[in-house]
Amino acid sequence: MRPRHLIAIAAALLLFAGGLTGIMAAAQSGEGQQFAQQGRGDGGGRGRRGGGGGNGGGRGQPVVLDAAQLAALKAQYVAPKTVPHPADNAPSAARLALGQRLFFDPSISATGKLACASCHDARRGFSDGLERSIGVKGTPLARHTQTVINLAWSKIFFWDGRASTLEEQAVMPINTEDEMGMPHDLMVATLRLDPAYRRQFDAAYPGEGLGVATVGKALAVFERSLVFTNSPFDRWIAGDENAISEEAKQGFIQFNTRGGCFQCHSGWNFSDDGFNDIGIPTDDLGRFAIAPGKGTRHAFKTPSLRNVAERAPYMHTGQFASLRQVIRHYDDFERRASLSPKMRNVRVGRGANIIAFLETLTSPTPPELIRLQEELDRRLGLAPRATFSRAVQTTSR
Ligand code: HEC
Ligand code: HEC
Repeated sequence: MRPRHLIAIAAALLLFAGGLTGIMAAAQSGEGQQFAQQGRGDGGGRGRRGGGGGNGGGRGQPVVLDAAQLAALKAQYVAPKTVPHPADNAPSAARLALGQRLFFDPSISATGKLACASCHDARRGFSDGLERSIGVKGTPLARHTQTVINLAWSKIFFWDGRASTLEEQAVMPINTEDEMGMPHDLMVATLRLDPAYRRQFDAAYPGEGLGVATVGKALAVFERSLVFTNSPFDRWIAGDENAISEEAKQGFIQFNTRGGCFQCHSGWNFSDDGFNDIGIPTDDLGRFAIAPGKGTRHAFKTPSLRNVAERAPYMHTGQFASLRQVIRHYDDFERRASLSPKMRNVRVGRGANIIAFLETLTSPTPPELIRLQEELDRRLGLAPRATFSRAVQTTSR
């Protein structure tokens, strides 16, 4: 155990909520004191862009960890080797094939022109590149499309957490009027007209049949197969020193120290699977509309940062076109009563290293899924890669 005073310093920093024991050792050294100074420096009344923190080494200085500290930190980012599944919906080849077919099938929408994959596009980190996606009515939805990768580890769904299982969530967009607009009974009737689908449902869910519940289950099995843990960052964590740049390594350290990002984007999937208000100007009440209470107003689900470089624009509003704009937000955000107290510990400056780090989090998308996406374009008569006309820059500099 570490001496009590060190724990007190860590608490003062409020940077160690994630149990960063390796970094806690830094409190013993000069850097730790420097963090502490920076942590105390502003007491909440932080300056505007470019200000704040201005003491000690300043926010432009690299954060230095010794080899043992860095190793302890990296050990916390090892991605799991197995995928969790609910007991009543274990994966099988038949379930996966069925779920995949449904995910890329526009015939389960009112117009026959919108699949799950239209908005959750395999070429764009399973988001759509739009500020707000367009549903069957041709009008923008209320919020930006979330990614659907690595959701096997998530326990609550949508920006506001209004669904609590993937199975339950999966059928909700289908009959939501401005999304896919297809009543569930009509969806089931449409699928039953197809003998291949009837066979597939029988093989995948014998005795359960083709119904709303099995559509949700099959889609959930497919979504749990979208595991993205094979990025340059993961290779670095596994020991390949050349997998990422020195800037990205420094960015990773900043992310986990004075950047304060790890407080919410925690662990190998870079999400606490919870809800936080980060001061995005918005009228949207977010989590508060579902669960009124302290700390839920304007709070939104913390997105995973996996494949984030492919997923511009960002936030539930889709208002930031690049990672640079995201960083600018973390340097200068709206202060309001509901703001997460963790935002007091965010020190990001220009964030060039953090951006370099975020860009190492992209795992390759299986070519088979890219192929299905292109096939969907052809089926809908869309030009390749022109599914959506408004191209958004995906790199940030
Ligand atoms: C018209 C675009 C559109 C279509 C079509 C669509 N989605 Fe979504 N999806 C969204 C948007 C927008 C959100 C966020 C909505 C919110 O939080 O209010 C979302 C959220 C989700 C989430 C929650 C992710 C998380 O981290 O909580 C999942 C899962 C999901 N969609 C799966 C699907 C599936 C499965 C289908 C097909 C049955 C589908 N979506 C069809 C736009 C779409
Ligand atoms: C208090 C918790 C919290 C902290 C601290 C935090 N984030 Fe976030 N982050 C969130 C939440 C919540 C969202 C989504 C907010 C929204 O849409 O309104 C988000 C969104 C993002 C996004 C956009 C992802 C997407 O898919 O749209 C990026 C990139 C990001 N954060 C990076 C960072 C970085 C880098 C830091 C540190 C400088 C950081 N975050 C600190 C909670 C946090």
